[in-house]
Amino acid sequence: MSIRIMGSGSAIPKRKVTNDELCGFIDSNDNWIKERTGIISRYISMGETVRTLACKAAKKAIKDAGINACDIELIIVATCSAEQALPCIACEVQKSIGAEGAVAFDLNAACAGFLFAMNTADTYISGGIYKNALIIGAEVLSNIVDWSDRSTCILFGDGAGALYFEKDNSKLRFIQKSNGFKGEALSCYQRDSKSAFYEGDILYKYVKMDGREVFRFATRVVSDTILRLLDEEGMTVDDIDMFLLHQANLRIIECIAKRLKADISKFETNVERFGNTSSASIPILIDEVRRKGKLTEGMKIVISGFGAGLTYSACLMEL
Ligand code: ACO
Repeated sequence: MSIRIMGSGSAIPKRKVTNDELCGFIDSNDNWIKERTGIISRYISMGETVRTLACKAAKKAIKDAGINACDIELIIVATCSAEQALPCIACEVQKSIGAEGAVAFDLNAACAGFLFAMNTADTYISGGIYKNALIIGAEVLSNIVDWSDRSTCILFGDGAGALYFEKDNSKLRFIQKSNGFKGEALSCYQRDSKSAFYEGDILYKYVKMDGREVFRFATRVVSDTILRLLDEEGMTVDDIDMFLLHQANLRIIECIAKRLKADISKFETNVERFGNTSSASIPILIDEVRRKGKLTEGMKIVISGFGAGLTYSACLMEL
């Protein structure tokens, strides 16, 4: 038993921000950003929230799938930048789309969050607990980025993507891993720890990143995990029609392709236009390639997410 994509949708803030615009207030330039990251522009919230973007993407996926929201049984929102802690965004989506019968909860595994949520949905559905799932990745990272830190603020963008899945019999395999021992490489402490009983610590509330460490981690674990996944299925890189990786930055994707000895043309990208949207990047990319008609029945694709935690996951899917 497995799950199949039946509908997709995405929602992007209206405001596009180019590298040149960023360089109006940080000491950088368009060439440096393009060369090191591949990013040319990103979309930044002008009031759009994780909740509003998630709801918009969800409605588009439901419309695309041609289903009634009342029939949705499971909603998971992957996010690490929600403006609100309670209620969770998935419950807000449930209310907004009218999915009265659904179970809804959020999941945070940073940039690997969408794949962790997909794996969770697959486990529930394969176990016969639910028949379908709406999985959303939504982020407004512009809220947690230090806009005076040129080494991080150039990387991120805002947006949401949603995929609707139903039970199926095609091949679907996941490998999912965490390495909390390297968590300091990418962190963000959003709330202070003050209470009536404790003075509290002053925490740096923006994204803090050891860029080189993250680069090394991503390129090594993603290629190793994909190779292990294929090996366990008796397949090779040549058997794969398309690679859909978390859109962290173009150099990471190119380096992974090289390590896999895979044809770079098999790697779909949109990081150039959206920047790194963390848990939203994979569903936004899948929505784009689906709409372009590039995903056809029988194709074998590999999806991989990696990020803070550190967390990483790879998935082999036969369409
Ligand atoms: N413009 C100009 N110079 C810059 C900028 C900038 N925007 N940012 C940093 N620099 C400078 C640094 O200050 C440093 O200067 P110095 O040598 O005088 O000290 C120099 O460039 C080199 O800095 P590094 O951090 O070593 O630059 P590097 O080549 O590693 O590139 C980058 C930085 C792009 C962040 C790279 O490390 C990277 O791609 N890391 C992966 C991080 C990533 O993609 N994270 C995404 C989030 S996590 C995820 O999604 C998995």
